[in-house]
Amino acid sequence: MTNLAHSAFEARLNTGVLNLWYPVAPSWMVANAPVGLTRLGERIALWRDADGAVHAIEDRCPHRGARLSMGWNVGSRLACWYHGVEVDAEGRMAAVPAIGRCEAEKRARNKSYPVIERAGAIFLWFGTPGIEPEPLLLPDELNGGDWEAILCTAHWNCNYRYAAENVMDPMHGAYLHAISHSMAEGDKKAVMRARATQNGFIFEKTDQAGINFDWTEFGATGTWWQRLAIPYRKNAGPGGSFYIVGIVTPVDETSCRVFFWRCRKVQGWQRDAWKFLYRARLEGLHWDVLEQDRMILEGMLDDARDNEALYAHDAGLVRLRRLMEAEARKQVEVEAQAPVAEPA
Ligand code: FES
Ligand SMILES: [Fe+2]
Repeated sequence: MTNLAHSAFEARLNTGVLNLWYPVAPSWMVANAPVGLTRLGERIALWRDADGAVHAIEDRCPHRGARLSMGWNVGSRLACWYHGVEVDAEGRMAAVPAIGRCEAEKRARNKSYPVIERAGAIFLWFGTPGIEPEPLLLPDELNGGDWEAILCTAHWNCNYRYAAENVMDPMHGAYLHAISHSMAEGDKKAVMRARATQNGFIFEKTDQAGINFDWTEFGATGTWWQRLAIPYRKNAGPGGSFYIVGIVTPVDETSCRVFFWRCRKVQGWQRDAWKFLYRARLEGLHWDVLEQDRMILEGMLDDARDNEALYAHDAGLVRLRRLMEAEARKQVEVEAQAPVAEPA
């Protein structure tokens, strides 16, 4: 690889691998008024139209570059606060009210993002040019039915890869979360192994199961998700083990937004009991656990991965790194070979 390609590869890894769906916000965060977010280093304006559908376009006015998210929702368009230019959901400059016509309509074009709203979150497709969005297949726990999934999301000031690697590392549960409501049990030593699954792999303890955070699964099904289960004592209500499905979305090179769905298989009255118990007693305890993760990850230097002394328990995150690096490398190589567009 040339130096140029290498730096493009590093940049792609650092800001997020493309050709994936990423959750960018919980559904409640986007209502009628436009919202401005940064995800994968891109500034994005989102809004909900009168029918409740969410739209997402580049958050930059084609006229002179003001943030469209500071403007107004005029139904199927956003109107810029600065001079009133209107941009539609496909990113087209649709009206220039100050001159009463739209001469620039044909040349101005903002990027627009395919949107899917599911499991209480808004997912956007971040694609390379010419690649159609893949179907978004979420793990069963997020598809309703017998599963109740409660989304919790937070902003962490660390590169997204550290957050993803943290989930691929079950052994930290017995140490970092040793003083917690759910991860105080079990051995502090383990022999770990990885095994392939249909869509990814599982990294697990070979000598302990069903006691603590004993395994993590990674899956690639249009998005990159991770899943784990934490056994619960009987006094933590109905439904057996508590599953967590996580997806990490890069904000920029130094921060990310984590999305964790807390899932339990519960039906009928037990579902209401579980939701009540969760809100009343467990949610606060879970935030305490997440804060432990956030504090340790935000305390790591951005280049921590350049000087490590890994051991066998890190085989899961090493496997994840290889997979991400291979995908990033493939993308920048394909882009480097793409013909350069002729100037218009
Ligand atoms: S910068 Fe948006 S209308 Fe001028
Ligand atoms: Fe953790």
